Amino acid sequence: MTSPPSLSELLDQVLDRVRPTYQERKRLKRVAVDVIARIDELAQTRKLECKTLVVGSAARNTWLAGDHDLDIFIGMPEDSDLDIALDLARKVALQYEERYAEHAYVHAFFEGFELDLVPCYLVKDAAHIKSAVDRTPFHSQYVSSKIRGLEDDVLLLKQFMKGIGVYGSELRVGGFSGYLAELLVICYGSFLEVLQNAGNWNPGEFIDLEGHSARSHDDPLVMVDPVDPKRNVAAALSLDNMFQFAAAARCFLRHPDMNFFFPPEIKPLSDEELLRSIQNRGSTSILIEFAAPDLVEDVIFPQLRKAEQSIRSLLDRNGFSVLRSDADWHQNISPGSDDETDSDGDKTSVSRGVARIFFELEIGQLPEVHRLVGPPAWKEGHVERFLSCHQELLSGPYLENGHVVVEVKRKYTTATQLLSAQIFDLSLGEHLNHQVQKGYKICANRDLLKTKDQDFRKFMSKYFSAQQKIC
Ligand code: CTP
Ligand code: MG
Repeated sequence: MTSPPSLSELLDQVLDRVRPTYQERKRLKRVAVDVIARIDELAQTRKLECKTLVVGSAARNTWLAGDHDLDIFIGMPEDSDLDIALDLARKVALQYEERYAEHAYVHAFFEGFELDLVPCYLVKDAAHIKSAVDRTPFHSQYVSSKIRGLEDDVLLLKQFMKGIGVYGSELRVGGFSGYLAELLVICYGSFLEVLQNAGNWNPGEFIDLEGHSARSHDDPLVMVDPVDPKRNVAAALSLDNMFQFAAAARCFLRHPDMNFFFPPEIKPLSDEELLRSIQNRGSTSILIEFAAPDLVEDVIFPQLRKAEQSIRSLLDRNGFSVLRSDADWHQNISPGSDDETDSDGDKTSVSRGVARIFFELEIGQLPEVHRLVGPPAWKEGHVERFLSCHQELLSGPYLENGHVVVEVKRKYTTATQLLSAQIFDLSLGEHLNHQVQKGYKICANRDLLKTKDQDFRKFMSKYFSAQQKIC
């Protein structure tokens, strides 16, 4: 029997997998040089003053092997029009799409790489930015000046965060950005030191590398941006993700394991497994599906969470007590899934993907009888109004603790009846309301088995296991 690897052997094995090879680096460099040359040449022909630069992890050798993303910024003088830079970006690759953050940018596909070509203003320092992206070149300068010799530690930290599911500052994740991971390594000095320190974090942890904070923040983790004292680099990090990281860090230091970096892939639940989970729990499972709007993730996700909350409180208010819920958006519909056709005759879920909100109810069915507690008996006017609203009584009216009580027939005895009747009245978020009106589907318990989409089956597997690394 071979003995398990030592901690340093384990980290070396991880690095062998996440450190880009010489060939990979060479390819990335060639693509970057090529793209910059194209932009500069075009700018020269148009007599434009601009400065093209590689930023992000590619600029500081902190990108993970297999990540073929390049962040290239096109800097323009402060008084110019960024649309001019956008137009240069459009000419770089044949295949691209326009995306929007504070300003439009181009996401291009070029020789196997995904390029973000981002117009920005060249400002004199990060405290005078005109839009959030103008800060990025300053991040690059700062990190490049401090990170030499620590690149491998950043790779280990990014992969660890990826492995436990907390890497990425996009709203879907609410985790650690690449820049934040780099600053943590700069702050504590190594990957293992980051884990050691994170294990002792408390909510409200405050890190100020340059000692120049210019504002107080109310976030669980505050990492004052070294290039902009007003900004918290960790603003997107949720409390749960911060402490998932801290708990996993403690677990890992006690029991180092490759699983933290490369967890086993989540297997989609088979029909039998899905049915067994539903039956074992004895709860009521409800799934609501509709076509996802054709919008960027950071716009869809907050709306999806809002819709989940609205529906959840409707269910709770009506006595269908919700145990837990979750929502996601699945883009790839595998063959064999039962796509809906909406009223426009479109396939609702093929091209744009499908939004899914899942609720697990402690109570899925309520009795016919519904007890309603009315006003105190001494408020004559209120009592009259209450009784006139409830005329078909199963029992009552009677008094209890001075209040008038009636027992009437319940309008909706199942959660599906309630949802079908009231979903249009809910506030689900601007774009989602519209999508639901175009067509939606509700199914319960065994009927969930009809949804064969493998992304959905993985989502259910994650939901039922709900297991995080905590110790
Ligand atoms: N950025 C930021 N805050 C964010 C996201 C991005 O300040 N929430 C800036 C950082 O300067 C970052 C750059 O935008 O370096 C590029 O962003 P991104 O590609 O998301 O991160 P990388 O640092 O390049 O890390 P990765 O290896 O994940 O690409
Ligand atoms: Mg990047």
